[in-house]
Amino acid sequence: MGFSTKQIHEGVTPDPLTGSILTPIYQTTTYVQDSVDEYLAKGYSYSRSANPTVRALENKLTALEGGADTTCFGTGMAAINALFLTFLNTGDHAIISDVIYGGTYRLATTIFNRFGVEFSCVDTSDASAVSAAVKDNTKLILTETPANPTLKLTDIAAVSEVAKEKGIPHAVDNTFLTPYYQRPLELGADLCVHSTTKYFDGHNATVGGAIVAGTQEHDDALRYVLNATGTIMSPQVAWLTLQGVKTLSVRMDRQSENAQAIAEYLEAHPRVERVCYPGLESFPQHELAKSQASGFGAMIWFEVEGGVKFGKALMDSIELWSLAENLGSLESLITHPVTMTHADVEEAERKRIGITDGLVRLSVGLEDVEDLVAALDKALAIV
Ligand SMILES: Cc1ncc(COP(=O)(O)O)c(C=O)c1O
Repeated sequence: MGFSTKQIHEGVTPDPLTGSILTPIYQTTTYVQDSVDEYLAKGYSYSRSANPTVRALENKLTALEGGADTTCFGTGMAAINALFLTFLNTGDHAIISDVIYGGTYRLATTIFNRFGVEFSCVDTSDASAVSAAVKDNTKLILTETPANPTLKLTDIAAVSEVAKEKGIPHAVDNTFLTPYYQRPLELGADLCVHSTTKYFDGHNATVGGAIVAGTQEHDDALRYVLNATGTIMSPQVAWLTLQGVKTLSVRMDRQSENAQAIAEYLEAHPRVERVCYPGLESFPQHELAKSQASGFGAMIWFEVEGGVKFGKALMDSIELWSLAENLGSLESLITHPVTMTHADVEEAERKRIGITDGLVRLSVGLEDVEDLVAALDKALAIV
């Protein structure tokens, strides 16, 4: 079955009671059991542990990523929190990509650090640096590729090889490309993390998270943490995400097509000093982008001549593009990572990894590309 057929049909069957083509929102707390001896005969006991609407989404994501099973969470951060709680104990060490979503960095360095878990922020674009950073007590490698916001790539197969050699699970945050363009489990990773808030939802309607595990054992361990910590996705969010996923490939193709055109426009603009998009020949890891993914995605960053002052003026004055956190939705968004998504990353660390004060991040949506370019053109003429 092709991806577009799978994204529509996998995980869902017409409701056995009514024939409803859409999986109902099972808005219930509890499930009546047939007898003490047949407890859990229908698979559900309490909606903190599992819910049929959430389960339908989990089954769909398992099929799309090619995993063994999936657990869905209330947010992407709840998923990453569960990942850390599942694999890390006091005294353990973990490796995370040095360029990573600011919330993941904050969780690692301000919360898990308090419980005696040590993190190394490593340039995971270099598999030998990952290998060199492994210690006797390293229990997890989490990479994000393309990374938020600089789009630095990690060679998933190369890092997975290091992880396998050392016997450490490798989790990949696949939020930016989704399984439509990139399937980390097929490249050797053990777990695949998602903020479903982004492209899976696609409509700026929900927050949610998921981890697709390559083995049932890993999924069971994550599900244990889900139940113990009470961080399940709600059935309404699962239902909305189930509808969003059905158009994932169509949205991603169109958004990426728009992004390519916008990146080329920016590259040619005299007021733009630097533009970064994996689909540009000038992107330093363009060959890796082509070889490990089947599309370049819809995220771009650029810097305007004149630095932060003009970058801010552009973000404040631009029309059509909404100044907002989030990405992957059909509305085009413009974000200033230093004051928004990565505000909790210390200045020195931000500078070290290339998140400059003037960096402007674009999440390209589904509007007509001519309108998006015209809005950028007008804003660039003002600043
Ligand atoms: C790559 C990446 N992973 C995880 C998250 C966290 O997801 P959520 O906002 O759903 O908690 C984000 C949020 O922006 C993200 O960009």
